[in-house]
Amino acid sequence: MENTKNVNSKASAVPKGIERMKTGVSGLDKLIKGGFIKGATILVSGGTGAGKSIFSMQYLWEGLQSGESCVYITLEETAEDLRQDALVFGWDFKEYEKKGKFKFIEKNILEDTNFEFFDMDNMKASRVVIDSISLLSLVVEDKSSMRGRLKELIKSLKERKLTTLLVSESLDEKHLSILGIEEFVADGVIILKYTSVGAQAGRLLFIRKMRRTNHSEKLHPIKIGNKGIQILSV
Ligand SMILES: Nc1ncnc2c1ncn2[C@@H]1O[C@H](COP(=O)(O)OP(=O)(O)OP(=O)(O)O)[C@@H](O)[C@H]1O
Ligand SMILES: [Mg+2]
Repeated sequence: MENTKNVNSKASAVPKGIERMKTGVSGLDKLIKGGFIKGATILVSGGTGAGKSIFSMQYLWEGLQSGESCVYITLEETAEDLRQDALVFGWDFKEYEKKGKFKFIEKNILEDTNFEFFDMDNMKASRVVIDSISLLSLVVEDKSSMRGRLKELIKSLKERKLTTLLVSESLDEKHLSILGIEEFVADGVIILKYTSVGAQAGRLLFIRKMRRTNHSEKLHPIKIGNKGIQILSV
């Protein structure tokens, strides 16, 4: 594994004029000049159990702590399962749902492939997660339609200045998404990996792309602890 100790020497200064959203993931902001650019669409890619949903909830929880409104669109897991998963880390989303600051939206992509913005507009949301966008690739016929649909979706998200995480399932090391389109249309790509060498297993985070950002290019060991995901060496 590469040495990650000095990675921040070039990534610590935050440039002026670009508004950034804190990610909530301990240690990550320092690697990407202070956070995600407001209005950016970021792909969070990884295999099963890599921590994509935890990362996503942690990001929204951070927004709620800053007084923002946030939406989690879930295409696979139930809202109740996600609520319970979050509670383990002390993130009580229900409290914010009651206040109208947070909403889980369960979407059945097989019934309707269009994304609605009614709730996001009503709540004046600033952060949204779509978990996972890979489901869309299963119902859209081909690569060019998928590219069109994603571009359309990202345009609608950007018109609303929503800073978005698109969760993507990667089946192996070489593929960041199922159709290989998502990583090209997103502004940034964060890869979460579960690795094993011999008897040792561990987790890694890698920033594969982050437009307009001089970001870390190292593989960062991470840990899922009682406060969520934490970067171990920054
Ligand atoms: N409290 C915890 N402490 C440490 N690790 C945990 C904890 N809770 C979950 N994990 C780890 O996180 C994994 C689940 O993370 P998460 O649900 O974010 O994965 P995912 O990438 O969304 O997976 P999938 O593609 O299946 O949806 C578990 O398999 C477990 O390894
Ligand atoms: Mg998940």
